[in-house]
Amino acid sequence: MKTRLDPAQHHKTKNRKGFMHPITEIGNRFIFFSKNESPTVDMGCAYGNTVIAALDAGAKNVIACDIEKEHLSILNDQLDESEKQNVIFKQGALPNDFDFTKESIAGIHASLVLPYLSENELDQSLHNFYQWLKPNGKLFILSYSIFIKELINQQFEDEYKRRCNAGWKWPGYLENANEYSYTDGVRNEHDASSFPLALHYFAVDILVSALTNLGFIIEFSDYLDGEKNSAVEETWYDGREFIGVIARKPSR
Ligand SMILES: C[S@@+](CC[C@H](N)C(=O)[O-])C[C@H]1O[C@@H](n2cnc3c(N)ncnc32)[C@H](O)[C@@H]1O
Repeated sequence: MKTRLDPAQHHKTKNRKGFMHPITEIGNRFIFFSKNESPTVDMGCAYGNTVIAALDAGAKNVIACDIEKEHLSILNDQLDESEKQNVIFKQGALPNDFDFTKESIAGIHASLVLPYLSENELDQSLHNFYQWLKPNGKLFILSYSIFIKELINQQFEDEYKRRCNAGWKWPGYLENANEYSYTDGVRNEHDASSFPLALHYFAVDILVSALTNLGFIIEFSDYLDGEKNSAVEETWYDGREFIGVIARKPSR
C-alpha cells in the first residue's frame, strides 16, 4: 500500500486555504453514503483523506475536486493503481469551473470549503449543488460556525447583530476576518500563512434557510463540538464550533 498522510493530523494546504482536518462526523456520514451510492463528489477535498476513507469503505466512484492542482497530485500519489480506477480527479474553482450534468451526482461533501466563498460565489455554488444532485441526492456540509473562540468578542457580536437586523442574507461573511478575530494574537500569526483575509462563518439557521429556499429538505442540522470533531484547538469555545448540515434534494 502507498504511504498516506496521517489521517489523525491537520495538514496545511498549499494555497492558504486552511487545513485538511481529520474526518468529522459529517465526513463519516458521507463515507457511509458513498459505499452504496454513486457517483459522489468530495468538493474541496485537499489531499483526499475523505476520498481515501470512502475507497477503503468500498466506494467505487468518487470524484475528487479541488481548486489546487498540487493537492490532487498528492492525493493521486497516495493511491494504488487499482484505487485510481475508482476516482476521477477534477481541478477547478467553485462555483464556475465544474460542469457536472444536471441530476448526475448522488452525493456531495463540502467540508470546510464554504469559508472561502464570497456571498455571490456561495449562492451560485449552493444552486449548482442542487442542480447537480439526482433526486434524493444528498449534500453533506461541514463548516466553522460563528461560535469559535476568536469571534467571541463584543465587536463581532455587535456587527453580526447589526447585519442580521439589517436583513443580510450572509451576515457571517467577513472581508477581513482579522478585524473581528482575537485570541491573544494567535489568530493573526496563524492567518498570515494559513488563511486568506476573507472568511465566511455560519450560523445553522442562516445556512438552513438558504438551503430550504433552494428546495432542499433538511435531514440534519446542528452545531457540532469542535473538540470532538478535531477542529483546530485555537477555535474551541463552547461545543458549537462547527456546523453540520445534511440536506436532501426531493424525489421528483
Ligand atoms: C480547509 S481545506 C478542507 C479540506 C477537507 N475538505 C477537509 O474538510 O479537511 C479547504 C480546501 O478547499 C479547497 N478550495 C478552496 N476554495 C475552493 C474553491 N473555490 N473551489 C474548489 N476548491 C476550493 C482548498 O484548495 C482546500 O483544499
